[in-house]
Formats: sequence, C-alpha cells, structure tokens
Amino acid sequence: MSLSQDIQENRAGLSHKSPYIAHIKERVILNKPSSTKKTLHIVLDLADSGIEYDVGSCVGVFAQNSEERVERFLEIFTNHASSPIVFKKTNEVMSVRTFLTRYANLNSLNSSFLKLVNHPALSDKEFVLQNDPLSFLQAHYTDEIALQMWCDAFQPLLPRYYSIASSQKKVSNEVHLMVATFSYSHAGQEKTGVASSHLFDEKTTHVPIFLQKNPRFTVPENLETPIIMIGPGTGVAPFIAFIQERIATSSSRNWLFFGERNREEDFYYEDFLLDAASKGYLELDLAFSRDQEEKIYVQHKMVEKADQLWQWIEKDHASIYICGDAKKMAKDVTEALLTIFMTKGHMERKEADAYLSALRKSHRIHLDVY
Ligand SMILES: Cc1cc2nc3c(=O)[nH]c(=O)nc-3n(C[C@H](O)[C@H](O)[C@H](O)COP(=O)(O)OP(=O)(O)OC[C@H]3O[C@@H](n4cnc5c(N)ncnc54)[C@H](O)[C@@H]3O)c2cc1C
Ligand SMILES: NC(=O)c1ccc[n+]([C@@H]2O[C@H](COP(=O)([O-])OP(=O)(O)OC[C@H]3O[C@@H](n4cnc5c(N)ncnc54)[C@H](OP(=O)(O)O)[C@@H]3O)[C@@H](O)[C@H]2O)c1
Repeated sequence: MSLSQDIQENRAGLSHKSPYIAHIKERVILNKPSSTKKTLHIVLDLADSGIEYDVGSCVGVFAQNSEERVERFLEIFTNHASSPIVFKKTNEVMSVRTFLTRYANLNSLNSSFLKLVNHPALSDKEFVLQNDPLSFLQAHYTDEIALQMWCDAFQPLLPRYYSIASSQKKVSNEVHLMVATFSYSHAGQEKTGVASSHLFDEKTTHVPIFLQKNPRFTVPENLETPIIMIGPGTGVAPFIAFIQERIATSSSRNWLFFGERNREEDFYYEDFLLDAASKGYLELDLAFSRDQEEKIYVQHKMVEKADQLWQWIEKDHASIYICGDAKKMAKDVTEALLTIFMTKGHMERKEADAYLSALRKSHRIHLDVY
C-alpha cells in the first residue's frame, strides 16, 4: 500500500478500518403517525472530519445489538458479563458484554455452534435457518465448553450500508440518511432489524460510520444530460441527493418516479419534491400503492408515460437510475423499460434486450438495489 493510500485509509471515516464517530444531530420520522410504516430521516454531523462525499455514495454504519437482546444471552452465560474474552478477528481482549453488544451477530446461527456440541443436524441447512444463537444456546449451552469457544462460534456483526440522501452542495458538513425500520418473527422470537433499530433508538447519540463510494452511481458529468430516477420507498434516498445536486448546478432535466403505500401518510420529502417540481427542476410521477383497490406501482406510471420516457431515453440520451428493493421492484421496473423499448422503439424482445445491454455497456443505466 502506498503512503498516500495509507493516509487515505487511516483518515477517520474513509474506510471501514477507521470509522468516524458521527453525532446524530437530528432524527425525524418521515411517515405520519397513522402510517403502517416508520422510516427515519437521520442527520449526521460530519463536523470538522473533512469527509467529502459525492451524491450516489453510501455510508457504512457499525451498529450495536440492543441491551435487551444482549441481556438474554447474558442470562445464559451466567455471571460472565464482565469475563474477559479475546475477539478473534482483532485479538482484542474485551468483556463478554462488549463482545455481544458490538461484535457478535446475535441473529444468525451457523455450523460452528453445531460442531461445538456435536449436534446431529450439522449438515441440515433448514435447522440452521430456522434457529438462531439464542434458541440454540437455550437448548444446548453447557459450561463444560469454554466461554471463549462459544464466543468464537458467533459470526461477526457486519456494517450496514445506507444511501446518502443529501448533497454537500446543500448541507455542507452533514450527511443525511433515510432508514426503514421493520420487524419480523424468527426462531420463535419477535425481532427488529439491528442497525435500523439502533439508529431509531433515542439513546443512540453517536454512531461509527465510514464512506462507501459508488462512482458509477452518480449524476452525469455533463450537466445537460437528462436523468430518469426510479426510487420507490427508501429507494428515493440517493435521488434526494441527486436533486439537491442538480438544483445547485442548475441542471433542470430531472425526472423522478417515486412510490409508497399511502399519499397522506408516506409521501417522503413531499415539500421538497413538490417545490422542486413547481420551480421546473423536476418532473414528478407518484405511485401510491394502497390508496386504491388495485396496486399502482412506479412501473405502471412509467408505462403510462412511455412516449415521453422513450423520447428522453432515445432522443435525449438520458441516464436511468433505479434504487430500492432488489427482489421484485428492480426486476419489474426493468421489465417495464423493456416493454417501453418494444412498444415505442418497435423492437422484438431480443432487440429490446440488446438495447438494454447497450445502455448498460455505455453506463446509461445504473442500479443500486438491496
Ligand atoms: C448499497 C445499499 C444501500 C442501502 N440503502 C439503504 C437505505 O438508504 N435505507 C435503508 O433503509 N436501507 C438501505 N439498505 C439496507 C440496509 O443496509 C440494511 O440491510 C437494512 O437497514 C436492514 O438492516 P438491519 O440491521 O436493520 O436489519 P438486520 O438485523 O440485518 O435484519 C435484516 C435481516 O433479517 C432477516 N430477516 C428479515 N425478515 C426476516 C424474516 N421474516 N424471517 C427471517 N429472517 C428475516 C434477513 O436475513 C435480513 O437480511 C441498503 C443496503 C445496501 C446494500
Ligand atoms: N429485512 C430487511 O433487511 C429490510 C429492511 C428494510 C427494508 N428492506 C427491504 O428493502 C426494500 C425497500 O423497503 P422500503 O421500506 O424502502 O419500501 P418497499 O417495501 O420497497 O415499498 C415501497 C413501495 O414500493 C411498492 N412495491 C412493492 N412491490 C413492488 C414492485 N414489485 N414494484 C414496484 N413497487 C413495489 C410498495 O407497495 P406495497 O407494499 O403496497 O406492495 C410500496 O408502495 C424492501 O424490499 C424491503 O423489504 C429490507
């Protein structure tokens, strides 16, 4: 590694190896109280860190497991909360409580646990998926196996990534994030997302973060190039940053397709988006899926606007960006684009596929999906 690379890597916030401890300056729930969702807008203070980011980048967040969850493990490791163990990844000595809070994945079981007790389901993937370390330890913990060995069995708690929802041209030494909270049941327990609940918790005042650049997913260098942004749900986060950046650089051909459940409750950044639209900076199409009987999604709005979209893509060489859910949305939106190419570009399916590949090769279509 060169010296300058080394300095870069070691400056707080520029690599996962040396995170910057950011103060959480502001936390706002973007949904109305009557909503079925809770999505947060979070403002992190970069203070004098010197961190500079481009729109389209992400922030990596090191979260912590909740006190309640850690306590449930400490009930099993009786009298061992302060016992020292070695965190095998860094060779650091720490208490069991610190290890469980900051470094252990408390939600995923893995074969290391099963090997420790010679469990008969060692090669049974379903068993591993359906159980978690808590349910496993409740059934199999024995102090005949050293505490260190139990701790070594946990997978590491990995950082979580969040799209940056701000442009430094507008917010200077802040970084804004948008975080969806959620709960689910697993291994007979009600669980909430680790990082999203940690960020949601008022007691969390500071959080270790680092910048994760994403140079392909950013606004075009040519300010004249039109951009088409498709971002339902938290997928809108990077596009808030894009729109702030494009307003700051007086680039006016921006088109956003945004969707959520209900307009009254879940229209994130409504004032900002409507203001940008009224000032001519933004074409805005909205798809509120649960305001009527049948689902209306962003791709339905895209197909409705097929003529104009085709003109932006084919004649005006717009760049296309898709952000949000990887499992269904990104596939369905891509399918809608192919439909538009076929109907408006008079193409067969094979030609439409080739047209899409050509857009990918020339970096005119960009995905950031999760
Ligand atoms: C590039 C990138 C950008 C992202 N940007 C954003 C963003 O802007 N905003 C945002 O909110 N998120 C974003 N994410 C997602 C984010 O990183 C986290 O994955 C998300 O917040 C969940 O993390 P968590 O720790 O809260 O949940 P976790 O504790 O990690 O829980 C989520 C995990 O729980 C498990 N799970 C969930 N439901 C069930 C179930 N029913 N049964 C069993 N297991 C289940 C799954 O394994 C799932 O991966 C992004 C991800 C990437 C990769
Ligand atoms: N478990 C986790 O790791 C975790 C945590 C947070 C978020 N997520 C996932 O991250 C993604 C984003 O979540 P989010 O809260 O930002 O919003 P979201 O769940 O993606 O929902 C946003 C909007 O998209 C709609 N939608 C659903 N299916 C769609 C499709 N196939 N095409 C287009 N739009 C569709 C939703 O409608 P309807 O809901 O009315 O169908 C809703 O109106 C989701 O996959 C979510 O499950 C996962």
